[in-house]
Formats: sequence, structure tokens, C-alpha cells
Amino acid sequence: MSLIEKLNSLARELEAGLDRALSLDTLEELRVEFLGRKGRLASIMSELPGVEPPERPAIGKLANEVKSRLNALFEGKKQTLEAAAQADVLKGFDPTLPGRMPWIGSLHPVTLVMDDICGIFRSLGYDVVLGPEIESDYYNFEALNIGPNHPARDMHDTLYISNNVLLRTHTSPMQIRTMQKTEPPLAVIAPGKVYRRDSDLTHTPMFHQIEGILVDRKVSMGDLRGTLQAFSQRIFGPDTRIRFRPSFFPFTEPSAEVDISCMFCAGKGQMDDGTVCRVCKGTGWLEVLGCGMVAPEVFQSVGYDPAEWSGFAFGMGVERIAMLKYGITDLRMFFENDLRFLKQIA
Ligand code: PHE
Repeated sequence: MSLIEKLNSLARELEAGLDRALSLDTLEELRVEFLGRKGRLASIMSELPGVEPPERPAIGKLANEVKSRLNALFEGKKQTLEAAAQADVLKGFDPTLPGRMPWIGSLHPVTLVMDDICGIFRSLGYDVVLGPEIESDYYNFEALNIGPNHPARDMHDTLYISNNVLLRTHTSPMQIRTMQKTEPPLAVIAPGKVYRRDSDLTHTPMFHQIEGILVDRKVSMGDLRGTLQAFSQRIFGPDTRIRFRPSFFPFTEPSAEVDISCMFCAGKGQMDDGTVCRVCKGTGWLEVLGCGMVAPEVFQSVGYDPAEWSGFAFGMGVERIAMLKYGITDLRMFFENDLRFLKQIA
């Protein structure tokens, strides 16, 4: 067979092969077999040097024509197969189906309530300050008028790291840290984690508190009451009433515990059907925070003159506020992080 005949029959064979190729893979196999660098066209062309020189140009020309014609056929077939494959994919696709919602995280209820509380006090002109959870005995106790043998230490169930280093049992150390750094007048709140060696149905070893302190000239207990009244109405609703009960803290004098009217029975102590309110246990009141007028010993420990400066301080448990606000009856809900619970609030 002459080279010309070989070229023509190669072209015919390939054209037939292309017709039968049903996938992009078989197409590629064909291309390698016929047109590849070591393919059949190349092998035919390697016989060219054996041809009489006068005939070579005509054969070379034909070979080039065959090659570009076959390449064009390949390209065409490839596009057809690609379009078919694409159509196949789209066949199973229903553009009217709803999309999948991406998972978006949200803030933990404790964080939400902490943000709420901070927002209320910021709108009253307070700055937010943060301090260390690992604290010294001095800031947690000593400077707050709780001496080494003070009985109040018992109440704190302190987790000690060493003799003088501990996990803060309340956010009150921030009173001292703030006053040491700032000239009065001042008003700050300090949110954060606190720790106590305590764990049962209503106590967890870690919980959150928010401390507040305001120092100025001629601050009165009336200012404290007005501030806490405004705060309670904003966090629990406009009908909320508050009451002060005498109490004791070494760093405030006088001291009080603050109750708010129970929002579940509207302060009545019983429900509309006559049963006793489970939340306030029939008293109509719920304890929410501790407070008082800053004690002179505390002012002295930071170098403020108690004759010139006066102030009030308060501290509240964030989980407790969150439980009351959302009607949560089990403290452990906050720490188990069951999404079914968290999603109801966030
Ligand atoms: N630190 C007190 C506590 O943890 C609360 C408190 C803060 C009381 C500020 C008075 C003033 O119980």
C-alpha cells in the first residue's frame, strides 16, 4: 500500500471510530492512538524518508491536510460530548428546590443577658471595665475590708491557687482596680466570670457577675435606689417594683439586698388559678442583687478621702438574672449547651 493510500484509509478508519465514540474517555483514547506523538499517523509519516524525493512534497501536503481535518473532527466531537455531559448533570437538577440554610452561630443566653445589662448601664453613662479572673488575696479580700480572719471569707468558698493567689470569688476586686487607676468621679460596670467551690442544683463552680460602682461627691442611697429601679424596669419590664432589705457586706455600709417584684405572678405570690407561684414561692419577691454605699475603709485603701467622696456599689449574678428573665428553672441548662435549649433563646 502506498503512503497516500495508508493516509486515506487511516482517515476513514478514524472517522468511523469517532462516530462510535460515546464518551470523552474513549474519544481521548482514540486521539492518542491516531494522532498522538507515537500514534498511527506519526508512524505512517516516519516512512516518508523512504519515498522518492520528487513524491515527498505531495505526500507531506496530504498528511498535513489529513491531520488538520482529523483534529477539527476531534474538536467537534469533543464539544458535542461535553455539551451532552453537561445536559446530563442538569437533568437531575431542580432549580425550584429550596436551598440549604447554612448554620449560623449565635450568642449564648448568658452573653446576651450580660450584653443587655452592660447596654443599660452604658446608656446611664457607665464605662465597661474588665479584669483578671486569677486574682490576689489583696484585691479579692484585703482591700475590700475583708481581713485575714474575717468571717465573711467563709461564705466565699474560695478556690486557691497558692496562699495569696486565687480565682476571684466575685467581681468586687474591680472596684479596687478601677479606683486605683482613676480619679473620681467615676462610674463603671465590670462583667465577668467568678469562681466558688460550690456545685449543686442551684450553684456551679463558675458563674458570671456584673459589678457596678459609682463615686462622686454627695452620692446618696436614694441615688442607688433610683439607679437600680431604672435598671430593673429596663431589664424585667416597666411594671417591675424593687425593695431593699438590710444586709451585710464588709465593703459597703449600709448594705442591702435588692428584691424585684416577681414577674411570673406580678408580685401577687399566687397564680390566676389560685396556686402558689413556683418561682417566688408565694412571697411575690425575688432576690436579684447585693449593694450598698462604699465603705470608708475601701476608699482609704485606694487613697480616696472618705470625707470628700461617696459612692455606691452593687453586684449581681448574670445566670440568676437570665433565669428570671427567660423563666429558666434549671441553672445547669446554661452549661450543658444543648442546642434545643440554646436555640429557644438566641
Ligand atoms: N460581691 C458581692 C457578692 O458577690 C455583691 C456585692 C457587690 C455587694 C457590690 C455589695 C456591693 O455577693
